[in-house]
Amino acid sequence: MRTTITNDPREAAAFIKRGGVVAFPTETVYGLGANLFDEAAIEKIFVAKGRPQDNPLIAHISSIEQLLHLAGEITPTAHAFIAVFFPGPLTIILPKAAGVPSAATAGLETIGVRMPRHPQAHELLRACGSPLAAPSANLSGRPSPTTWQAVAEDLDGRIDAILCGEQTEVGLESTIVDCTGSVPLVLRAGAVTLEQLRTVVSATTLAVPNLAGAIRSPGTHHRHYSPQARVMLVDDSRLADDGPTAAYIGLDPPPPKQEFALQYVCSGLDDYAHELFRFFRICDEAKISVIYCQTVAEAGLGLALMDRMRRAADH
Ligand code: TXA
Ligand code: MG
Repeated sequence: MRTTITNDPREAAAFIKRGGVVAFPTETVYGLGANLFDEAAIEKIFVAKGRPQDNPLIAHISSIEQLLHLAGEITPTAHAFIAVFFPGPLTIILPKAAGVPSAATAGLETIGVRMPRHPQAHELLRACGSPLAAPSANLSGRPSPTTWQAVAEDLDGRIDAILCGEQTEVGLESTIVDCTGSVPLVLRAGAVTLEQLRTVVSATTLAVPNLAGAIRSPGTHHRHYSPQARVMLVDDSRLADDGPTAAYIGLDPPPPKQEFALQYVCSGLDDYAHELFRFFRICDEAKISVIYCQTVAEAGLGLALMDRMRRAADH
């Protein structure tokens, strides 16, 4: 299959309307979209990514009206979060509506829905006229793509088109919050922080204290976010061992006499999140054998960053 590279949302939408699969930028990471109501197109997503069939997809919408066709019920906590965080990097889990194909939700009775705030994603969704089912646009198991080149690296020749934009703003995937019960549960930490969610619904709870027992969000038990290199977490930049095939990323600079093949000192948490997955991919290209990642405090965006780094280290 030839993969068309375009920056025209309408050209990209034409592939979707013909039952194709198209990668597109969002504010979190690039997604791989197909018409949510076209089961054959959804199947192509799983094939292109090599994605396990038991891992449900997130529905991407451009209007609240579309949500009414996807969710059987919009719970009070969902209403509250939608009012504050849509459009943006938040996915809410709700009971699914009867008409939603089970292929999109991997047979679950719930559906994850998010409204991206990225202008190109919005234009693509508008031009398609239907919600898009979309996971991250990487081969299953690899770090999520934050640039269109990273999408091409994994999926060139396997998908119909790439709608190309800039490097994504956040760099980590959306926060997922289960709103089906009375207490909202955060299934995956992300750019909308636990603290921010609690300003809206104070009872919001972290369902999965990062790694352990990730059961409620089926995808979280699969291997994820992993570069080829071994990832080692270090609390102090001085604990990282340098060498010709070692790399370092963190907030503090390593001691000046240390020589890493690649190193990146982040200007803050936002920059760390923005660059982490790209750095993983650059390290793979450079045949790095071990990547030292400096840990951060698990507050604010630090919770999501530590979650992704732990997963990357855990294989
Ligand atoms: O930022 C994002 O969320 C990106 C962009 C493209 O929107 N998408 C993304 O999708 O990260 P994906 O498929 O890589 O991760 C979706 C996660 C998976 O862990 C999946 O199991 C979980 O969401 N998920 C989807 N539907 C669910 C549901 N009904 N209940 C629980 N977890 C669900
Ligand atoms: Mg993914």
